[in-house]
Amino acid sequence: MKPVRVPDLRVMKERGEKIAVLTAYDYTMARLLDRAGVDIILVGDSVGMVVLGFDNTLPVTLDMMIHHTKAVSRGAKRALIVADMPFLTFQLGMEEAMRNAGRLIQEGGAAAVKIEGGGSHIVETANRLVDIGIPVMGHLGLTPQSVHQLGGFRPQGRDSEAAERLLKDADVLEKAGVFAIVLESIPAELAARVTSSLKVPTIGIGAGPECDGQVLVSYDMLGLSEGPVPPFAKQYTQLSEQIVSAARAYIEDVRRSTSEAGEAQGRAERERGSAASREARNLN
Ligand code: KIV
Repeated sequence: MKPVRVPDLRVMKERGEKIAVLTAYDYTMARLLDRAGVDIILVGDSVGMVVLGFDNTLPVTLDMMIHHTKAVSRGAKRALIVADMPFLTFQLGMEEAMRNAGRLIQEGGAAAVKIEGGGSHIVETANRLVDIGIPVMGHLGLTPQSVHQLGGFRPQGRDSEAAERLLKDADVLEKAGVFAIVLESIPAELAARVTSSLKVPTIGIGAGPECDGQVLVSYDMLGLSEGPVPPFAKQYTQLSEQIVSAARAYIEDVRRSTSEAGEAQGRAERERGSAASREARNLN
C-alpha cells in the first residue's frame, strides 16, 4: 500500500489514470475512504456546511480546519491529504498566508493546502507557498468563499469572456506551481479545454467527465446530506435512511426491553457485589 504523493498525480495524468477524490472531516470516515482506495482526501471547508450546519463556508476558521485535518490525518494511511485554507486565512498578507498554511501542514498533518480563486493576489500567494515547500491545489469556477460576490452557488464560466478568463487563470496558476486545480461548476467543454491545456491534473466537480479526476463531498455521495444536494452530486447510497431506520430499531428495542434489561443489569450488579464481599472475607 504505497502512499499517494504529490508528484504521483502528474504521472497519473500522463498515464490517463483518473484521480478519485472525496472529502472527509473525521477519523472514522477518513479510515473508510482510505480503505476504499481513494487517492486524495480533501478536508474541505465544506465541513462548515455539512458537519457544522452553517449556511456557507465563510464562518469556518483555521482552528476548525486544523482540528478536522488532525482527525483525518490519523485515519488515512495511503491517501494524500489536502486541507482547505478557509476564508481570510490567505488573503491578508503573505506572511500570514505562509504561517496559516504551515499550521495546516505542521499541526494538521496535511500534505498540501487548497486555495480558492485565480486573481493575481492568489497566484502570488500560491507561488510563495510552493516556494517554501508547501504544495498548493488551486480552485477555479464556482469558488464558494466568494458566494456573495457570485450572487449564490451558481455555475460559472458560461459566457466566452468568463471562459477565457478561467483558461488564463488556470494557466497562471500552473505557472505559479500548483500541483492540481479543482474546477467547480463550469461547462464540460470549458473543463475539457482547461484539462487539455494544462500539464497538472484538473479535478472536476460539476465540470463534466473530461477532467483528470473527480471530487465529491462525501456526505452528498453517501446520501447523508438531508437538504438539497447539487444536481451533479451522484448519490451512491442513502445512508441517512439507513441511519434513521437503525436508530428507530434501537429506540424500539430500548423501549420494549426496559424491564428485562433492567433486571439483567440488577442481577449482574448483585453477582459482582457478592463476589467482592467473598473476596474481602477471604482476605480477612
Ligand atoms: O470544501 C470543499 O469540500 C471543496 C470541494 C467541493 C471541492 O472545496
